[in-house]
Amino acid sequence: PKTHNHEFIVQATKVKRLCKTHNSITVNGQFPGPTINVKNGDTLVVKVVNKARYNITIHWHGIRQMRTGWADGPAYVTQCPIRPGHSYTYRFTIDGQEGTLWWHAHSSWLRATVYGALIIYPREGTSYPFAKPQRETPLLLGEWWDANPVDVINEARRTGAAPNISDAYTINGQPGDLYNCSSKGTTIVPVAAGETILLRVVNSALNQDLFFTVANHKLTVVAADASYIKPTTTSVILLGPGQTTDVLITADQPVGRYYIAARAYASAQGAPFDNTTTTAILEYKGSPCRTCSGQSLQSPVLPNLPAYNDTTTATAFTTSLRNYKKAPVPTEIDEDLFFTVGLGLMPCPRRFKKSRCQGPNGTRFTASMNNHSFVLPSSWSLLQAQQQGIPGVFTTDFPAVPPLKFDYTGNVSRALWNPVPGTKLYKMKYGSRVQVVLQGTSIQTADNHPIHLHGYDFFILAEGFGNFDASKDTSKFNLVDPPLRNTVGVPVGGWAVIRFVADNPGVWLMHCHLDAHITWGLAMAFIVENGVGKLQSVEPPPADLPKC
Ligand code: C2O
Repeated sequence: PKTHNHEFIVQATKVKRLCKTHNSITVNGQFPGPTINVKNGDTLVVKVVNKARYNITIHWHGIRQMRTGWADGPAYVTQCPIRPGHSYTYRFTIDGQEGTLWWHAHSSWLRATVYGALIIYPREGTSYPFAKPQRETPLLLGEWWDANPVDVINEARRTGAAPNISDAYTINGQPGDLYNCSSKGTTIVPVAAGETILLRVVNSALNQDLFFTVANHKLTVVAADASYIKPTTTSVILLGPGQTTDVLITADQPVGRYYIAARAYASAQGAPFDNTTTTAILEYKGSPCRTCSGQSLQSPVLPNLPAYNDTTTATAFTTSLRNYKKAPVPTEIDEDLFFTVGLGLMPCPRRFKKSRCQGPNGTRFTASMNNHSFVLPSSWSLLQAQQQGIPGVFTTDFPAVPPLKFDYTGNVSRALWNPVPGTKLYKMKYGSRVQVVLQGTSIQTADNHPIHLHGYDFFILAEGFGNFDASKDTSKFNLVDPPLRNTVGVPVGGWAVIRFVADNPGVWLMHCHLDAHITWGLAMAFIVENGVGKLQSVEPPPADLPKC
């Protein structure tokens, strides 16, 4: 195994998009940021130098971080942010995962421009469980704001209203041909006739589930969230923010150009969202020239994408994924948890001016799990407080089941609209076998909630609509070959059930990966206590761990 050293300089950089030049925060002047290539078993050492004017942290999304929680990255959870002018070195080993993950800023809305791919090749001396493709490329789907994304969320925080929606979707940072002033930069994916190409698709968007497809080509899914999937062929895939999907395509069409395209999946309930389509181009070698003068421009073939509210297609895809091999799903459960996930509206506090309550009917948006709206600490990270025994930073009374039982997907009790703010964690013993039923509630929701767990992959046993009912829904559990993922889309008006073994000590955030929702408090955190001895305990903190 190798050790890879990188330096990430976080700095403001001029980025031209949608006809204007912006001063965007980037890593090493690149947007999207650098792609990191490693092998399963390698160690990664990344020194992050903050030359921007914001506090920042970097999260290695999906990396297990076995006993190295200090390198996980969520601000105020596993570390205090890196202040302007300071640096911090993330050091961790890739242990068992193969496929595509990614890294992103995990403070404020900086991840709008601070993100990149993290590609994990098979362990030295081993190969893919599918025929090696002739080519491959990461395709990062993103969201672009003309305004400064940090201003967008700060404004929403001030007013209590929903943040402005983005101005474009992007593929590898480029909106593509269908947006103004964007044709020149469109991402081109070259291929030769007859070749197979591996597309490593990442949904890095802040607030949107996305459908993804390639015109006239079949997609064969082979991995998701850096875990292999039984190859399955489809014409369209769906990714929630945070999720990755590796697909093979074969260039078996007439020589030419074909659009690679993505656009929103937003269910039928109609919260405002961007309904535009981002494109890249799959370009066969020998295609007639595209932009040279004197040639008639041959436009690429546009694909069919499902309608934004096509829940049937979305569900058919997510439930079709099977683990590549028989999965070691725990069959006994020590922690049987039931968490509601949902939005809410809080009445305008008396002391607030009207201008601070611009949510529906003079309210403010909020969000919660089990009726608690998560508040991050500000003077210590949760992991420091837990490891060093600093009192008063959090409590450990996050409820295992909802404090109020009700018809979750029906007419929701008013009490749920106004959850209790707090920093409540749920404590578990090392090695506990955990099941979490994630139950969506129906308040103000138009999107799946992509629930992401730090520090773990989990098996997705089942998902469904309505209220989860143990007496009949347990029969739907796949205990044989469920996919192993780090982010699950809890369906609008429905539920999903996950299982994992709590074998990684530390403090681990679980949250909705829609940044609007985490901002409103749709999060909680687990404490997994140290086990016996060094190999079951969190490593000591690095000397350069930032201070708050
Ligand atoms: Cu990809 Cu907590 O995030």
